[in-house]
Amino acid sequence: TIKLQDIDPSKLSITKTKTPKELVPPNELVFGRTFTDHMLSLEWTAADGWLPARITPYQNLSLDPASCVFHYAFECFEGMKAYKDKDGRVRLFRPTKNMERMNKSSARIALPTFDGAAMIQLIAKFAAMEERFIPDTRGYSLYLRPTMIGTQRTLGVGPPGSALLYVIASPVGPYYPTGFKAVSLEATDYAVRAWPGGVGDKKLGANYAPCILPQLEAAKRGFHQNLWLFGDEEYVTEVGTMNMFVAIKNKETGQNELITAPLDGTILEGVTRDSVLSLAREKLAPEGWIISERKYTMPELFEASNDGRLLEAFGAGTAAVVSPVRNISWKGNLVECGLRPDQEAGEIAQKMKDWIESRQYGDEEHEWSYVVPK
Ligand code: COI
Repeated sequence: TIKLQDIDPSKLSITKTKTPKELVPPNELVFGRTFTDHMLSLEWTAADGWLPARITPYQNLSLDPASCVFHYAFECFEGMKAYKDKDGRVRLFRPTKNMERMNKSSARIALPTFDGAAMIQLIAKFAAMEERFIPDTRGYSLYLRPTMIGTQRTLGVGPPGSALLYVIASPVGPYYPTGFKAVSLEATDYAVRAWPGGVGDKKLGANYAPCILPQLEAAKRGFHQNLWLFGDEEYVTEVGTMNMFVAIKNKETGQNELITAPLDGTILEGVTRDSVLSLAREKLAPEGWIISERKYTMPELFEASNDGRLLEAFGAGTAAVVSPVRNISWKGNLVECGLRPDQEAGEIAQKMKDWIESRQYGDEEHEWSYVVPK
């Protein structure tokens, strides 16, 4: 367990903007390009711990060029969303999970930890202040981006003596401009995303920049995303920046199995991943489904596809929620993932999206949903 450092949310100071922004119409929103009026920031020093939080107008940071974030990648972040429910209330989805994961990420790169419950209170205040930016249309939300950076001015390689934790917010619609449509993947055979003993299970910015080149390479050949494999066995690990799920009919027993890779240190502990697994155990297992966190390989998917046993495949993440997969290019084969040509999502992907959104938007009252106090 990680020892968490105190934050006092009662010391929050608020400076409101004098120039409120004009809202961008929801259908014109591009993911992560539009930001709200304000930001939440907290500074930390090794001597004094977390200083009082501030909500200020959204503004540039002023940092010394020697700040350690720029040289040694002392940076971790989170992705979470605030939703507007049918009664106009603001809701966060499983924020405790994000705070727990961020503390694991920050601890791994010698950045400070923080009291997650206190931070949720601050984020809730911030989200409430930015309420007018949350579209009340299904599929839309306010993407919240908690970010922590090492700010110490030094080229010496060591634990940062100062840090900044800030949260910015961006109104967003569907992650892919094409909407809820099946994507084509290219299995990447020349690079790996993560490795045993590495940091692939942490949400570090440094894990994301190296994802772009394989994505561009895949796009050059007409694929939407790349599929990350690992090892000679060609274990399937993640898709682009999302966790990966497949549904297979078992060769021996004929039972349906929903599979995702286990949290062995190479897989990001996705909140959506965990939500899909919980919902599957709750709603699919009683119908006879086997729910597995186990290793599975590209040859296994290839064989299942050829036998007509690969029922469907989808990515799962906060940004896109669920992203159905049509096929995977692998070793000169196009492995079909169970969709008819006229079908954009399999039955499980569609159900998961509906079940998760129902809890995110508060249609179904559930403990995963955190109602922001007015
Ligand atoms: C996801 O939510 O799937 C992500 O990985 C967030 C992405 C914008 C970095």
